[in-house]
Amino acid sequence: MKLTSSAGLHGSITVPGDKSISHRAVMFGALADGDTHISGFLMGEDCLSTIDCLRKMGVSIDLSEQAVVVHGAGLHGLKAPAGPLYTGNSGTTTRLLSGILAAQPFPSTLTGDASIEKRPMGRIITPLREMGADIDGREGKFCPLSIRPAALHGITYHMPVASAQLKSAILLAGLYADGPTTVIEPAPSRDHTERMLRALGVQAESDGCRVTLHAPLSLHASDIEIPGDISSAAFFLVAGAIIPGSEITVRNVGINPTRDGVVEALHAMGANLTISNLRQGAEPAADLTIRSSELHGIEISGALIPRLIDELPVLAVAAAFAQGETVIRDAQELKVKESNRIAAMVRELTRAGADCTETADGMIIRGGQPLHGAAFESWSDHRVAMSMAVCALAAAGESEIVNPEVVSISYPGFFNALQTIGG
Ligand code: S3P
Repeated sequence: MKLTSSAGLHGSITVPGDKSISHRAVMFGALADGDTHISGFLMGEDCLSTIDCLRKMGVSIDLSEQAVVVHGAGLHGLKAPAGPLYTGNSGTTTRLLSGILAAQPFPSTLTGDASIEKRPMGRIITPLREMGADIDGREGKFCPLSIRPAALHGITYHMPVASAQLKSAILLAGLYADGPTTVIEPAPSRDHTERMLRALGVQAESDGCRVTLHAPLSLHASDIEIPGDISSAAFFLVAGAIIPGSEITVRNVGINPTRDGVVEALHAMGANLTISNLRQGAEPAADLTIRSSELHGIEISGALIPRLIDELPVLAVAAAFAQGETVIRDAQELKVKESNRIAAMVRELTRAGADCTETADGMIIRGGQPLHGAAFESWSDHRVAMSMAVCALAAAGESEIVNPEVVSISYPGFFNALQTIGG
């Protein structure tokens, strides 16, 4: 994909539906009694992997441009798949499904692509075994995961990392456990699972870093409207902030307070970002308007990290165009995403002439160097590819993104969307 320096981006766009909520909508709809009509579902490869796995367990799902309809199988209605369940590149599919599969009366195997086979699964194996699950992985901690039937009991689990995938795996196993299940996180991670389970009639109480779930008899299907993904909107917010002369409105973006750290970080950097048309619902949404402005470096650390974990690659791009130093700390989790996103972003930004350094738990970016176009690698990581596309539009001259098709994991029309606003 070739990109050239942009003279300014203008216009109004909508981004595809939230990836995290899309996965949960089809999974929980599959476990509910009755039909779930889902609008705004993300037709990205990761969410299609979830659909594929559910279909292999006998769940009937209708897909059309307008809506997805899941014909719920009920909590105890999944069928034994004929072979291994392939989760592609999707950590959310792998980890959330493992929680559900641990409680099924049939054995199963979860496999994924080369990236999934490297991602840490010990973090889910440990608590699921504590609940009584019979689950094992390659070398005890990687995919493929083998799961055999077992009776589960509720536990109280202190999570070593703030991870919504881990929290959700435990809570989903808790749907089938004897007794309540409590998870305690070091900092709050995204709470889509808790919100959606409550909407389906499950008793799940949250209090800061602690969630307690009581196993229900059944889930009651309820229609789900999915707002645009703030993680996809973030590419336009940063592009609009750093490309002089830009003004972009991204409509109907989910701004769940456990996900809106990118808004807070951009405001702290001096971005001219306004929020309008706020709509409250199961998941709050709003329109976000960004106008270009001078940015300055900040520190991003602590409890803010889980609230913007997926936006850190593109925030690193913002930092490279900001005046002064940006320090990202407490972000070790970035090393175990679809790629090592600390190594990837430092390497790719350096190609463009940025002054940045990898640290044990993040990176330091000394912003304000004049950046130039280059041939950027995507590291087979959708968010690295899109972040470097934003960098390419803001840098001087021409750039290339190698292996750009990886964006279809979370945003199939990304490059077209950039073109419609002048990229
Ligand atoms: C996700 C949670 C986050 C995030 C991922 C999606 C989810 O991962 O990075 O893209 O849908 O629960 P962790 O919870 O493992 O940090």
